[in-house]
Amino acid sequence: MEGFQAAWQPNNMNMKQQELKVELTADGSHTLYLQGLEEYYHSWHGAVQESRHVFIDQGLKQVKAGEVRLLEVGFGTGLNAYLTCMEAESMDLKVDYDTIDLYPLSGGIIRKLNYTQQMGGKGAGIFKKMHRAGWNRQTTLTPSFTIYKILEDFLKFHPEGRYRLIYFDAFAPEKQPAMWQEDQLKKMFDALEPGGILVTYCAKGKVKRMLRGIGCQVETLAGPPGKREMIRALRPE
Ligand SMILES: C[S@@+](CC[C@H](N)C(=O)[O-])C[C@H]1O[C@@H](n2cnc3c(N)ncnc32)[C@H](O)[C@@H]1O
Repeated sequence: MEGFQAAWQPNNMNMKQQELKVELTADGSHTLYLQGLEEYYHSWHGAVQESRHVFIDQGLKQVKAGEVRLLEVGFGTGLNAYLTCMEAESMDLKVDYDTIDLYPLSGGIIRKLNYTQQMGGKGAGIFKKMHRAGWNRQTTLTPSFTIYKILEDFLKFHPEGRYRLIYFDAFAPEKQPAMWQEDQLKKMFDALEPGGILVTYCAKGKVKRMLRGIGCQVETLAGPPGKREMIRALRPE
């Protein structure tokens, strides 16, 4: 657990599973509340709504290609990965989904989450398989979706190859500023293919300025219900 403590910002706080509480958000879907950090994993206005709007509608659905290599920063509950897998099937899109996290959740917490019930039971087997998939190896979940869960500290992570799409879903900059430092955002910019995009729920002016400073074209888009704005950043061709 020492590695966790060293990486955690701002207080070198340890992330203990007993510090996590499952809570209902306004759309009826669950999120987790991390007591030590006083931070939610998703918007309490609606976890599924947020994930759909920010990552699926403004990210995945904007990709004009038959195949996409995607990187997620912060696997967490697997909600983004699950919705992406479901959407990929209906979009007839092939997705190779790489996702990084340093603090995997316990099976006990994951079993409490109601995401598959929210989807009428659709993909329940896939959600389970996604969580059972080993870390640091690729697993095929459906003919159109592979997942590679990377167990590593994002701050020390060196992406291999380029991505068409990045879901930047770290805890908020005021809670975990190290994840949003310019060198970390530059690492993401370098990992994008020309024409690739990064989406995040965050709409902070400072983050926009840093993204512009490293060469991104930054769009401020309407946020999900309850949040005014979000960011989409493009790496120019
Ligand atoms: C906002 S949550 C991600 C929510 C997730 N995308 C989902 O769909 O549930 C942020 C995630 O970042 C992870 N995290 C925090 N610090 C990290 C680090 N240094 N390296 C990698 N992951 C980290 C946390 O464990 C947490 O799962």
